[in-house]
Parts: sequence; C-alpha cells; structure tokens
Amino acid sequence: MFSTRCIWRCYNIYAFSMQRNNLIRLRLILQNNYKLCRALTLNFDKERVKTSSDSISSSLSVTRISNGVTNVTNNKLPCYLEGSFSEIVATIANNMVVYEDFLNEEEEKNIIDEIEPYMKNLRYEYDHWDDAIHGYRETEKLKWNKKNEVTLQRVKQVAFTRNEPLLKHVHVLDLAEDGYIKPHVDSIRFCGDTIAGLCLLSDAVMKLAEEGHIENWVNVMLKRRSLYVMKNVARYKYTHEILRKKESVFKGEIIHRHRRISVILRNEPSGESAS
Ligand code: OGA
Ligand code: MN
Repeated sequence: MFSTRCIWRCYNIYAFSMQRNNLIRLRLILQNNYKLCRALTLNFDKERVKTSSDSISSSLSVTRISNGVTNVTNNKLPCYLEGSFSEIVATIANNMVVYEDFLNEEEEKNIIDEIEPYMKNLRYEYDHWDDAIHGYRETEKLKWNKKNEVTLQRVKQVAFTRNEPLLKHVHVLDLAEDGYIKPHVDSIRFCGDTIAGLCLLSDAVMKLAEEGHIENWVNVMLKRRSLYVMKNVARYKYTHEILRKKESVFKGEIIHRHRRISVILRNEPSGESAS
C-alpha cells in the first residue's frame, strides 16, 4: 500500500530516480537551474482572513473556466491571497484556487488514521543532501481505504478534468513543526500542469515567487483542511515554498504552524514536457 521510498521526486532540485547515482542527480540539478529565493518583506495588511463562504469577496466576478481555475475579472481578489502587486495576485488568482474547509474533521481524521501507522515509523529528515526540504518524512501511496478513496475522488473531481491521466501514487508529505519547503518548481518531467494538495493538521503559508522576478510574490493562506489547486502559470512560472514556522505570517497575522501533512495529487506530464 505504501511505497517505502519515493522512486521519483517532483522537485527540479532533486528530480531524480533514487536508483540513479549522485552524478546524474547533480546533472539534473544543474540542468534544471534551481534557484533559491530570499524571503521578502511581507505586505502587512490588517484585513482578516475569512472563512470559506466569504473567502472570495462577494462582489468579485469569478467565472469558472475549467476545473480549479477561475477568471478574476475585477479588482477584488480572493482573501486567501496577498502579494507584492495586485496584478501578480490576480495572475495567481487565475491559476490557483484554495477551497477552505474542503474536508470536514472526520475526513481529515480518516486520512491521518490511515497514514499515521506507516508515517510514525519513519524519521524526519533534516540536512538532506539537496537541502530543498527540511524536517520531513514522506511516502507515496497507491491504495486507500474506501472512505479515503471517496475523499480523494472528490479532490480529483474538483481539481482535474474527467479522464485526465493522473500519477497513480498519491504523495504524502509530513512536515515537522520546524519543517519547511524551500522555493522550487515541481519537475516538468515527472508531473503535469496541475498540482492539488490537501492540507492536514495545521494551517500553513505557501509563498509563490515569479522565477527571475522574485519581487513578484504572492502568499497563499492554506488553512487546515483546505484543498489548493495550482495550475499552469502558477505551477510553471512561479516557485512555491511552504514557509517555516517563524516566517508564517499572512496579512500581518502570525499563522501558527504545527506539524503539517499534505496529500498531493498530480497529473501526468503531457508527452512534450515529459520528453
Ligand atoms: C512538494 C510541495 C507542497 C505542500 O512536495 O513539491 O511543494 O503543500 N509540497 O506540501
Ligand atoms: Mn512542489
């Protein structure tokens, strides 16, 4: 049910098969031109983050143009985003959606109950050779119990188009309280244009920054039990990261980061990008 190790990794920085040698890993890192982004000053704005029903302002004209993608047509932007420039926030709003309270408490617990017996036997990893991710343990999971299968089916319906080929393994990533993910772009060789993630056990802040223009950044408030769907521009042209505990601030408010588990579904790369 669980794979004991991930045979592929979805990050440019360590897009490698664990079976290959370090030289090939290094080559991939260089080829993929991984860039670290410095933390930027947050744009403090006292507006409170609202709950799911009002997380997009009521006067906002949002048209669903395809699964998980909205078309933001006026200045009101989703409350779960803040950023350096409103144009950048609008760009991300058109390519990333957060569904707050996507899971109820029972659904969250069911997922945790299924993965915890396996996860707790793994040690959190620090000082990984590539240093892209810190304080984590992870697995890829193929089969889920019936209840969780229903939940994941719901994720698929919201995030992907019907019959779209998805990676068969679901990625489960457990970040310790002091864990964090540095800026990266998921490998275009190993996954397609859409990344859908459930956030369990803790709120977290995801930061996106335009590659080559890190002054263009957006913070995404990922509440516990939310689902995010990141697509297209947000997935390819922006790095994403999960901020560490002491940097987890959103709209001027400290976001309490605890141990956090994400359950991530990805689609298959199209033929072109995979080659
Ligand atoms: C990843 C990643 C984000 C998350 O595993 O590549 O970016 O929500 N994860 O955990
Ligand atoms: Mn990623």
